[in-house]
Amino acid sequence: MAAVKKALFVSGSAQGIGKAIIEKFAAEGWFVGVYDIDADQARDVAAMLGSDNAVGGALDVTDPESWKAALEEFATAAGGRLDLLVNNAGILRAGRLADVDLAQHHQTIEINVNGVINGCHTAYPYLRATPGSGVINVCSASAIYGQPEIASYSASKYAVRGLTEALELEWRKEGIRVQAVWPLWVKTAMTEDISAAAAETLGIRLTVDDVAEQVWEMAQPRKGLLGRVPKVHTAVGFPAKALSTAADLVPGVLTREVNRFISRS
Ligand SMILES: NC(=O)c1ccc[n+]([C@@H]2O[C@H](COP(=O)([O-])OP(=O)(O)OC[C@H]3O[C@@H](n4cnc5c(N)ncnc54)[C@H](O)[C@@H]3O)[C@@H](O)[C@H]2O)c1
Repeated sequence: MAAVKKALFVSGSAQGIGKAIIEKFAAEGWFVGVYDIDADQARDVAAMLGSDNAVGGALDVTDPESWKAALEEFATAAGGRLDLLVNNAGILRAGRLADVDLAQHHQTIEINVNGVINGCHTAYPYLRATPGSGVINVCSASAIYGQPEIASYSASKYAVRGLTEALELEWRKEGIRVQAVWPLWVKTAMTEDISAAAAETLGIRLTVDDVAEQVWEMAQPRKGLLGRVPKVHTAVGFPAKALSTAADLVPGVLTREVNRFISRS
């Protein structure tokens, strides 16, 4: 049963955006892998979906051995396929750079950047073995222009942006489609108690389902003429779409001014 379904693996999917992506794809008939550092919660989410539809377990994205074990377990349950990998696990530690412990900045880079590199590296053989496969990295609107008060987070998402662009080209000939999704602020545990001026100025308006719908759309084959134009980055929500389009069109000094206003710096 599971072998004939398309298969999705999402890191950090016990809650928040990752869980919403899992639920959307499972509702559309995919077999889904729910993996998170919170293994119990991941297994609970998978159990709710049923063993014909989902498998769940432990994953620490910073540990390549953990990736290896999780993907092996997932592939066994999914009949050897990996149609889509979503690198979603991430953390955010808000505050002025010097007010946040250095260890927390380092942890942000370890999870948000090395976690994605580990995922792409370990999943590559499975992706290559599954025709028409893809990767969607969860980036962020904070990779449009560096964001004060979430500086290392913003830097980590710039790295995800660069990695996505590089792999989109590197894996193109192997038929592995690599994209990034760029949400602005989303209502999740990550943003519950956040104190960052940009979040106050723009508001936290997106829901996890808005992001899941966007990821679902991005996972569909691009047909006709559109199929010939690669789309690497997709913003979620009007403000993020407007900001990223503007950043492509206007001189850098204007983008800086807009971001200075938004972040009240
Ligand atoms: N919430 C937002 O405003 C927003 C906006 C843009 C992008 N994002 C990105 O979306 C992704 C999901 O964030 P969210 O808002 O759902 O946050 P969240 O805190 O609700 O979920 C993050 C999940 O990642 C898991 N996780 C943390 N460290 C991990 C590790 N080392 N290994 C495996 N799993 C780990 C957590 O246990 C949790 O389940 C992140 O990459 C985040 O940067 C969030």
